[in-house]
Order: sequence, then C-alpha cells, then structure tokens
Amino acid sequence: MNQPVSGTPAIPVITIDGPSGTGKGTIASLVAARLGWACLDSGALYRVLGLAAERAGLDPGDGEALGRLAAGLDIAFRDGRVLLAGEDVSAAIRTEGAGNFASKVAAHPQVRAALLEWQRAAARPPGLVADGRDMGTVVFPDAEVKIFLTASPEERGKRRYRQLRGQGQEANLKQLVRDIAERDERDSQRAVAPLRPAVNALVVDTTSLTIDQVLERVLDVAQQSLAGADPLGG
Ligand code: DC
Repeated sequence: MNQPVSGTPAIPVITIDGPSGTGKGTIASLVAARLGWACLDSGALYRVLGLAAERAGLDPGDGEALGRLAAGLDIAFRDGRVLLAGEDVSAAIRTEGAGNFASKVAAHPQVRAALLEWQRAAARPPGLVADGRDMGTVVFPDAEVKIFLTASPEERGKRRYRQLRGQGQEANLKQLVRDIAERDERDSQRAVAPLRPAVNALVVDTTSLTIDQVLERVLDVAQQSLAGADPLGG
C-alpha cells in the first residue's frame, strides 16, 4: 500500500510515467474518470513554474531562485483549468516553448524538493491517478499500480503535430521530433528523479496502439492489482 502521508490513512495510487507524447495525460484522466478517482498532472506544475519563472525574468539555470519560487508557487487545479495566482494559464502552459522551459526548471533538485509534498498531498480517497516522469520512482514509490508508457520519437512527433494542427497552430514535424528527442535526453539524463521506469512498472509501448487499447490494458492491470492479484509481480 501507499505509505500514509502525515498520518492519513493509506490511499491507493496508480502512477503513469513516460516521456512526452505517449498519451500519459489522456490515459491518466480517462483512468481517473473511469474509477472516480482524483488525477494529478504533475507536468502542469513544472509548466506553471516555468511560466512564473519566465515572467519573473529568472534564469532557468538558477536552481536556488527557482526553488524559492517553487516553494511559494500559488497554483490550483479547478474544473479542468490550471490557475497561477488565480489567473487561468491552461493555454499558456501548453505551448512547446513552455514544455521545453519546464524541462529545464525541472532539472534542479531545489525545485523537485519544493514540489514533492504538494504532489503527495494530491492523494485523497478513494484514490489518485498521477502522471509524470517520476511518479512511480520518487513521488509515490509505494503505489499499487505503476505504468510506464513509451512510443517511438517519430510517432510521438506525429501525434504532437496532429494535435497542434488540430488546434489551428503552425507545426513543423522535423522540428517537433528534434525537440522531443532533446527533451527526452534532458529528462532522462538529469541527476535527480530522471525519467525511467520504476523496477516494478509495467512498460507499455503505445507506438501502434490506440488510446482505447492502452486504456483497456491499464484498467485491466489496475483492476487485477486492486482486487488483490498482482499481475506485475511486485
Ligand atoms: O508531462 P509534461 O510534458 O507536461 O512535462 C513537462 C516537463 O516537466 C517535462 O519535460 C519534464 C518535467 N516533468 C518532470 O520533470 N517531472 C514530472 N513528474 C513531470 C514533468
């Protein structure tokens, strides 16, 4: 079971980690909706911090200043919107630039330490689905179910391309694939909480799977595991 945080009863957690463009966020919110659980989009935290840092004119290399900013960050999730000090920043944090900036600020240990308890406090009954890079390895190491989604960089670039075009935005497929590879490299090579599957995570390659197929796979594993069977052998 998930370790009780600050004396609260244990709350079941499903973690869904993986690089960008694997459909983590979509799958996490569908799983949460199906189970009636809360959902934590941890990437949004780093994106909001990146936006706040940019606005404050902070250097993305200044871990101390970013850690202080993270500790006082006024962020809230409400009705599917992300708020920074009460301002709806849902659209502003979804650009490619915001994702790349988030990946830079997320590399600092001071930042990760400042956001750790905030993320753990998102666990509430009857359960939490958390998606990100280090949900199963660092934030919820005792989660009942750990999933790690992958897909080839080309497929992830294509998905992002279709998403941007669908929103009427300009997009360059080659550039997107390059950016994705660069972000993967930074997220998986950093010293703290690098992107990697937890030892007891189920790795699912989504390259040739539909969202529905991934969803069914994750729900199967979750239901077996929560019912007491242990399909992951962990
Ligand atoms: O999942 P995303 O694309 O919204 O995340 C944006 C960046 O935030 C990602 O490139 C790395 C960072 N991140 C992280 O370091 N740890 C997490 N748990 C989630 C995101």
